[in-house]
Amino acid sequence: MTRLLNCLMLLGVFILAGCSASKGTSSESDWVRVTNGNLWLTAGGDTVQAHAPGFLRLGDTWYMVGEDRGREWRPDVNLYSSKDLQHWHFEKKIIENGVTSPDLGKSRMIERAKLLYNKKTKRFVVWCHWESSNYGASEAACFSSDKIDGTYRLEWSGRPLGIKSRDCNVFVDSDGTAYFISTTVENQHLGLFRLSDDYLSVVEHTRLFAGQRREAPAIVKLGQRYFMFSSACTGWAPNQCKLSWSDNLKEGWSQLENIGDNKAFRTQPAAILEVKGTKDTTYLYVGDRWKDPNLAQSKTIIFPVTFTDTSCDFRYRDNFEINFKTGEWREDAKAKK
Ligand code: GAL
Repeated sequence: MTRLLNCLMLLGVFILAGCSASKGTSSESDWVRVTNGNLWLTAGGDTVQAHAPGFLRLGDTWYMVGEDRGREWRPDVNLYSSKDLQHWHFEKKIIENGVTSPDLGKSRMIERAKLLYNKKTKRFVVWCHWESSNYGASEAACFSSDKIDGTYRLEWSGRPLGIKSRDCNVFVDSDGTAYFISTTVENQHLGLFRLSDDYLSVVEHTRLFAGQRREAPAIVKLGQRYFMFSSACTGWAPNQCKLSWSDNLKEGWSQLENIGDNKAFRTQPAAILEVKGTKDTTYLYVGDRWKDPNLAQSKTIIFPVTFTDTSCDFRYRDNFEINFKTGEWREDAKAKK
């Protein structure tokens, strides 16, 4: 009898284990330790050159584009991929000085390249700051390709709707409407530019934060609410990161509130990533620690941020752990308490 009971219990354990495995329950090995402050290297030992990065997640792969500051003031745009934001594989130089456009590397340079995928046209689209050496051009540019690692062609460059435009980012709303958002008119305002359905041109402009001199904007949406991080305009020198929120992208943005320390932990916003898993959603702040000590060795810093109704816990961590399956994050087990 006891033997029969033991057998039945053992069977139960196997069935339970089988059930949880088939539900894709995560295990300890799914936790990834993220370390901040060092240069990111590829498996081959090369420095990851993708500054002021833009991200696109396809399936379980994160793609990252950004400035290759190897030749400091003539940045090409590199594409990398990773499953865990820690191990990066170099895919391709997707935009290259003198190759993608004859102006690039001569009268123009690229900053803050950001990557989008247009579901209707099935094209990959890059928007960026398209600038002259003295920042006088104040233009934007748009490139597209039918493959993420394909040949990107220049679609358009100029001042969006005739408006001087510098530091920039992109945001895709839950209905697929995409926006290019940039610092406009000699760094005075932020311009929210709605893009056409194919994401290749700008069709509408809304001025935000008039006269408040914000740049490096990064937007994320939680439920119906939009949150934006931005910096002041102090070049490569870090400054206070500020938060604003609104339930409408085009109006009603709250007053800018200080978050974190007064130097954004020596970073400037580049992106806010959403890691949605089976149990939770974690938001990751990505910022550039510029000129650490030179442009090429600028660091990419990532840490989890927690939004409440109208605010955000914006706290730097040297290390933390994240689980891309469940979407959870936790303090690093080895971190000093
Ligand atoms: C920063 C900006 C960077 C770059 C730099 C040049 O304010 O965020 O993208 O343009 O100025 O000084």
